[in-house]
Amino acid sequence: MRFDLISIFPQFFDALELSLLGKAQHNKYLQVASHDLRDWAEGKHRSVDSSPAGGGAGMVMRADVWGRALDQVLSEGNGKQIIAVPTPAGTPLTQDLARRLSAADQIVVACGRYEGIDARVTEYYRDSGVEVLEYSIGDYVLNGGEVAAIVLVEAVGRLVNGVVGNPHSLEEESHWQTGVLEYPIYTQPRCWRENSIPDVLLSGDHKKIDYWRRRKALERTVQMRPDLIWQMDQTLLSERDLEFLASEGFQLIPAKNEIIFRRLGDQPYSFVLGAQIDGALRAHIQVHASCPKILKKEADAIFLSDLYVDPLHMRGGLAGGLLERALFEAKNSFSSRQCLVAVNIGDKWTRQFYLRHGFKKEGRKRMSGRSGHDLFDIYSRQL
Ligand code: 6GU
Repeated sequence: MRFDLISIFPQFFDALELSLLGKAQHNKYLQVASHDLRDWAEGKHRSVDSSPAGGGAGMVMRADVWGRALDQVLSEGNGKQIIAVPTPAGTPLTQDLARRLSAADQIVVACGRYEGIDARVTEYYRDSGVEVLEYSIGDYVLNGGEVAAIVLVEAVGRLVNGVVGNPHSLEEESHWQTGVLEYPIYTQPRCWRENSIPDVLLSGDHKKIDYWRRRKALERTVQMRPDLIWQMDQTLLSERDLEFLASEGFQLIPAKNEIIFRRLGDQPYSFVLGAQIDGALRAHIQVHASCPKILKKEADAIFLSDLYVDPLHMRGGLAGGLLERALFEAKNSFSSRQCLVAVNIGDKWTRQFYLRHGFKKEGRKRMSGRSGHDLFDIYSRQL
């Protein structure tokens, strides 16, 4: 892969000799060539800009100068060639776009200064069959495209084979963590200014560690970038992920919808937590401040009952999200730190559901259910 960076300030690109990308150039995985636009300017003043046609503030870069520069630089490359033009009016540079660009053979970055480049330039090269990509690195304005060109080379260059020494680190980024922000990471010392590394990371239990990291990544994404949640690839979401996202108000399956949790029928000794989707109540659960005498000993515990989820909204994590939200509300409303629930022993799904949510089986009890007498398993969880 070859990058050609054209600018009136080519010294900006000296930074690319440093670090990983410098090494990649040395090892011939990448070639980065900087060019001074003035090399293609003419006349005594070698001027590259002129005032805008039709009037207005500032200066515009000349089409003829850019034309000569691009013709020459493109003629020196081959294969799949792309002209990339940094501009705040461009399409956002994302990881997906960077991945696509990493398959090119030559990327020519045309850095404008002033008010930009004469519009005929992008039109001309597009018409002549070259891919022209106008891209932006964020919603703010820079004085020129040079810094954005460096950003492009960094983002795309590291995806080129061989540039990143351990391709495994790219793989992890591009698979299950796609579209999610990074989880927090820690290293020595184990305790720093009275802050310890979270215990789970020192447990050696890799399944638990993966689960913790995944949760932290999702938490961070919910907090910092809720917009990314709606764009997540649903095939990469586990049931746990869906449940956590539901508890935060994001329903992704069966359709993308905001979940609004509402407390209904608040009493000093109980409340119902409802989940409203698209204006209608789709799920609810009842939370009681105290527990009926269901086990031999009297329990000081919160009791859950009447979990209901609309069949059309099952399998999208709604039940789990509602449960976690209910436990959170229960903890804030009532003093007990234990929570009990009774599950009909024939109800396999519900039994698995509570086990998955950290409940442990405490015992079995014969109780009168809706359909006469029945056996129930009693599950408990600490809040
Ligand atoms: Cl790519 N170029 C310029 N000049 N300003 C920007 C930008 C690019 N992205 C955000 N602001």
